[in-house]
Amino acid sequence: MEITGKSKIMFVLADPVDHVRASAVINAYFQSNGDDVAVSPLHILPGDLGAVVASIRLMRNVFGFGVTIPHKTQVIEHLDEITPAARMIGAVNFVKRTAEGRLVGDNLDARGFIASLAQHEIVVRGRKVLQVGAGGAGRATAFGLAEAGARELTIMNRDEEKARALAAAVAEHYPATKVSADHAEARSFDLIVNTTSLGMKADDPLPLDIDGIGPSAVVSDIIVHPAVTRLLARAAAQGARTIGGKPMLDAQMALVARFIAR
Ligand SMILES: NC(=O)c1ccc[n+]([C@@H]2O[C@H](COP(=O)([O-])OP(=O)(O)OC[C@H]3O[C@@H](n4cnc5c(N)ncnc54)[C@H](OP(=O)(O)O)[C@@H]3O)[C@@H](O)[C@H]2O)c1
Repeated sequence: MEITGKSKIMFVLADPVDHVRASAVINAYFQSNGDDVAVSPLHILPGDLGAVVASIRLMRNVFGFGVTIPHKTQVIEHLDEITPAARMIGAVNFVKRTAEGRLVGDNLDARGFIASLAQHEIVVRGRKVLQVGAGGAGRATAFGLAEAGARELTIMNRDEEKARALAAAVAEHYPATKVSADHAEARSFDLIVNTTSLGMKADDPLPLDIDGIGPSAVVSDIIVHPAVTRLLARAAAQGARTIGGKPMLDAQMALVARFIAR
């Protein structure tokens, strides 16, 4: 990869930074598309976030930056504007820097997730969905599933209060979807989505029991590494259709690429 003064520069702001892989994925994505884009992770402590964002505002060859743990919510106060999607989800994961230097926070997780399902011809409209997890990504996927027309959405989470709060927020925005926070059996759902981080480590327990699901079920796990989590391997062995987290990340890259091409 050759980075020159003509390259479009992007950052990923994180703390800690060692685990950040998104920059490698984004660089590979743009390189394979022949785009002159270079992305670097930046290790930014929470107390320095405001100063860093103010500096990026002045960097004229920067078109945006990704935001990850723990900055996704805190960054909002340093931006000029956030999109309705980011406001609803309560978190920003990509900030666009316009040609005029305005910083616009967006959240691409929901759109990326729903686009990845659509690309695999997985229809959400009318489906009965069980989602595990109510963290940052889970908030986005829950709103995305309701927006895409899920008939029912049941949210399960270790911290049950978080699941209840998320269910209430989604129900308020999307009254046509029947939303609840509950412990439920996977076998009575059409689409099962894992948004917890359980599955990133080889010895993690399964995020939920999927005994009894069959070939008509779709199991999605948004974890990117490994590409095939234990949950997906188990689901495939039971004949279910499976989809991993990489297509969701790729779909978000496509949205970023569309923004920088303008
Ligand atoms: N494919 C993509 O584009 C994409 C995008 C974003 C995130 N992700 C992936 O999604 C996963 C979650 O990310 P996040 O940002 O939502 O993280 P987060 O905000 O920290 O949320 C973590 C979620 O996992 C649950 N969890 C963690 N450890 C658990 C355990 N031992 N037992 C039961 N539940 C547990 C948490 O439950 P509690 O609320 O009870 O703590 C919470 O629901 C990560 O693997 C991340 O890489 C993928």
